[in-house]
Amino acid sequence: MSSKEWPLHGGQAAPLLARFGLADDTPVLDASANLNPLGPPAWLPDWVSARLQGEGEALARYPDPDYREARESIAVHDRVAPEQILLTNGGAEAVFLAVALHAREFPGTPVAIVEPTFAEYARACAAHGLPVTRLTLEPPDFRLDPEAVVAALGEARLLFLCRPNNPTGTLVPRAWMQRLLELTAERGCRVVVDEAFIDFVGNAEGRSTGEEALTPLLTRFEHLILLRSLTKHFTLPGLRLGYLLADRETVRLAAGCQPAWSVNGLAAALVAPLLADRDFAGRTEAWLATERPRLQAGLAALGLEVIPSRANFFLVRHPGGREATRQLLPALLRRGVLVRHTESFPGLDGGWLRLALGDATANQRLLAALAEVLREAEEGAP
Ligand SMILES: Cc1ncc(COP(=O)(O)O)c(C=O)c1O
Repeated sequence: MSSKEWPLHGGQAAPLLARFGLADDTPVLDASANLNPLGPPAWLPDWVSARLQGEGEALARYPDPDYREARESIAVHDRVAPEQILLTNGGAEAVFLAVALHAREFPGTPVAIVEPTFAEYARACAAHGLPVTRLTLEPPDFRLDPEAVVAALGEARLLFLCRPNNPTGTLVPRAWMQRLLELTAERGCRVVVDEAFIDFVGNAEGRSTGEEALTPLLTRFEHLILLRSLTKHFTLPGLRLGYLLADRETVRLAAGCQPAWSVNGLAAALVAPLLADRDFAGRTEAWLATERPRLQAGLAALGLEVIPSRANFFLVRHPGGREATRQLLPALLRRGVLVRHTESFPGLDGGWLRLALGDATANQRLLAALAEVLREAEEGAP
């Protein structure tokens, strides 16, 4: 199977149903997109409709091109200056802006990407004519050695990595990140760390203190860019919200690559109330503390190899190897459960599956479907 035929992102039931000859209206439990099952926050529909009524101001007026109010609330939340923030149309736009900014300064130079990871980094590089050097970490621990990464950089002046990483769920320890930043500073290589899933990390007790974020390192390392997404944590992939954090000059240059009013006015106005919703944050924390270890244990009890995750998804494989793992996806889909293939991730090549952490009911259903599929595979085995 060519990776070209597979959808590049989760949450795309239609092409996979078609691929396996299933009706396109088959209802599926979507465990392929990594979204908070508690969201969007319950107050959101009323909030949106209040804005659509009124005098239609939310639609009939251009948003503030500098998004001052949204940036002020992010600044307070993340303890950075408003000038260090660029509001973006989802984390995906932030990826493209980081690459656009770099392509302007160093056209045609290679970009190093720590793989296996999110496909948009390489797509953004291709869009800006920058060749990619893939630094592929090995299972089962996907350990990143800062010295080895820097030794493999070659001519690259930009390095992308995701923390916690999609699709492995692994988190490079903060001390190693610090080392990597020291080494790359010496080499003049800018580092982009995608923290799209950082709000799911939590500390040892499962509390989401934000202590794992690299924000405090921004003052020390001017070559560091952080990317954030609000669409995962608040379950707003259709509305879209993200931002880029960096030193003031880098933010100014990245803003120069962004179309005016790229973030719609409704989304921008939502930033402050979203970040102020402590109740939603608390419930998300409680869900993670209960469901993440429970799903991990459930998957392991089924005999699957599970990579311990600091994010809201798990990378798993069948002990029988690549083909046995590959067969799980259509078998689950026939039972109405959609999981994420890994055909398009360099280094994984279809030999793993990524499973999103859902609410208690969804996780039970996922485990039950997996148990059935595994039992059938065993019975059918010669
Ligand atoms: C690692 C990573 N970064 C960024 C994004 C994009 O997020 P958004 O939906 O906010 O554009 C995704 C989406 O899947 C992702 O997995």
